Amino acid sequence: MQVDLVHVTKRFGGATAVDDFTATLADGQLVALLGPSGCGKSTLLNMLAGILPVTSGRIRFDKDDVTHWPPERRGVGLVFQNYALYPHMTVAQNISFPLEIKKTPKPEREKKIGEIAAMVHVEELLNRRPDELSGGQQQRVAIARALVKQPRLLLLDEPLSNLDARLRLEMREEIRRVQRETGVTTVFVTHDQEEAMSISDQIVLMRDGKLQQCDPAQTLYHNPANRFAAEFLGNPPINQLHGKASSGRFKLSCGAEIPLPNPATDSGRPAIMAVRAEAFAIDDGGFPCKVSELFEIGKEEMASLKIGGETVRAYLPLEGGIRKGDTVRVKLKPRGVFLFDEETGERI
Ligand SMILES: Nc1ncnc2c1ncn2[C@@H]1O[C@H](COP(=O)(O)OP(=O)(O)OP(=O)(O)O)[C@@H](O)[C@H]1O
Ligand SMILES: [Mg+2]
Repeated sequence: MQVDLVHVTKRFGGATAVDDFTATLADGQLVALLGPSGCGKSTLLNMLAGILPVTSGRIRFDKDDVTHWPPERRGVGLVFQNYALYPHMTVAQNISFPLEIKKTPKPEREKKIGEIAAMVHVEELLNRRPDELSGGQQQRVAIARALVKQPRLLLLDEPLSNLDARLRLEMREEIRRVQRETGVTTVFVTHDQEEAMSISDQIVLMRDGKLQQCDPAQTLYHNPANRFAAEFLGNPPINQLHGKASSGRFKLSCGAEIPLPNPATDSGRPAIMAVRAEAFAIDDGGFPCKVSELFEIGKEEMASLKIGGETVRAYLPLEGGIRKGDTVRVKLKPRGVFLFDEETGERI
């Protein structure tokens, strides 16, 4: 099912939590809704579920305008940020609950519980209560409960936030697998860019209630629409240098100059040159920088390089025989270098 958000706005009193939000979530995709804490992710999700009314705008599921439909009519499965299971019910009863509400006959209920429990690997746990489960197991049960009524849309609000790092990795693979198996359009809320990059077909990046960019992870990473998108994705965080671009060179505020890999871009106005750590390459024809730190990480080295008064982080090849204190010549690869207007943050 395709989801269309058209100029969706949500105000709480005077505060705007979601601001004129327009995006399309394609049928069968796993969409990561990504953004910092407080940017409006849960608010947007709850409007999709019908738990929160919109202040203005429309929501469409395929051809249906569901803007004013109550939650039960929308066919949405929702896993909350704290995935509260019913504590007094067993796992089987928890999963069964949405079906009982729909008055599904008992034999059909039991069949479905069996199928879903097997899919999320909790078939051994059906008679336990939530307090007898680990965080990851509770997580699976919450997803099973959301899936059992065969929703048209699955909404997961930071479902992995209470889990330790290893379990998070495991569970995100599981969610990806279950999503592929069911083919249900899914929105996965997270503020973790790495999680969003690894799990999703599409990332919807949000800031202060506003859509920043809606693209596949690789597009967001290699072609960020604005400075915020460039900053928010990638580890280590993208290097940012202040200055001005003119005549094929970027003149840093500290006085140093760097030849631009794409000389056509002239800013005229104060700009930010953002450079990914992997965009540096050792090259005899390059510009000089001093190696102020070196950290070995697997097959590469992470270096801190001084360019004039600025310090940047760069990946350099291990076999280069580079040492701390050396002066090296580097070139920038066009693929990881972006210019942004300093004032507006927009791409130049
Ligand atoms: N019921 C409410 N009444 C008033 N303000 C609210 C309400 N719910 C959310 N807000 C405000 O709306 C903004 C967005 O909140 P929301 O919960 O959607 O953020 P979020 O992106 O999910 O954050 P987090 O990552 O911390 O869960 C916040 O400023 C929040 O304080
Ligand atoms: Mg939230």
